[in-house]
Amino acid sequence: MAYSLEDSIEAERLEEQVFEQNYNIAQELKDLNVSFSGNILDGGSGTGVLCRYINSHYQIEKVDGLEFSALRIRQAQDLLSATEKSKISFFEGDLLNINSDFYEKYDHVVSRYVLEHLVDAPQALQQLIKCLKPGGTLSIIELDGVFFNLFSLDPQFNRYMDKLKSEVQFDLSVGKKIPALMYDLGLKNIQWEAQLVSCQGKSLDEEIKNTQKRFQALKNFLLNFFGNEKETEEFEKVYLEEMHKSWNTLTFTKYICKGVKF
Ligand SMILES: C[S@@+](CC[C@H](N)C(=O)[O-])C[C@H]1O[C@@H](n2cnc3c(N)ncnc32)[C@H](O)[C@@H]1O
Repeated sequence: MAYSLEDSIEAERLEEQVFEQNYNIAQELKDLNVSFSGNILDGGSGTGVLCRYINSHYQIEKVDGLEFSALRIRQAQDLLSATEKSKISFFEGDLLNINSDFYEKYDHVVSRYVLEHLVDAPQALQQLIKCLKPGGTLSIIELDGVFFNLFSLDPQFNRYMDKLKSEVQFDLSVGKKIPALMYDLGLKNIQWEAQLVSCQGKSLDEEIKNTQKRFQALKNFLLNFFGNEKETEEFEKVYLEEMHKSWNTLTFTKYICKGVKF
């Protein structure tokens, strides 16, 4: 599995970022414009923030979260109130190989900021579509360019970024591919919206704090990637310094996509 933000600090980051401008869950679901009802599956449910949001804002029967990390599931369960526990359940599983018990069970399948962490997003999409009943809707919220799109002329920064871009296995450009992949996998009525996230002012301040937390959660991954503490700390320092320079642009695109299974 490519997802490496296993640290418990990642739970705190996931819970907080839904209120930030760049990852605002209320705005995302408004833009998605899906009337969730019946049984819902959240693929890669993390701390369950999307499951809880859907449960409290729509008339649904139940929401299941399917999540790879046992730690994240424990954290998600701890965050449920007694009433939420009757409607929301979490299951351990891999989106790349979903147990057939989940097939054709759901009116809506949704996944938010998960495919970008996978080595094979098309495979995960295919698996998620299998979980839909005929007539059900798949909704995907994904990014294109997050983190990697910071532009700087600094040579050391660019050496680090070139190394990361050429060696990491996950796909931080997956957002733009979702509508075509949905079509390729047989979905109909595909609709998508692309939104520019331009990190300046409050949005940049939030992204800087988010990145500091990402670095904390990614500590072991980065240590392993750069091979030693000194290099890892230098990379983090350089990245954050470049983020703070107002002439360095950081933009990325958020894709909000949906399609129907016939
Ligand atoms: C960035 S978090 C997003 C969590 C949640 N969707 C949200 O909106 O806050 C990505 C989540 O996907 C999970 N994940 C990564 N690879 C997975 C896989 N192959 N199968 C299931 N879950 C996976 C991670 O453990 C993590 O909880």
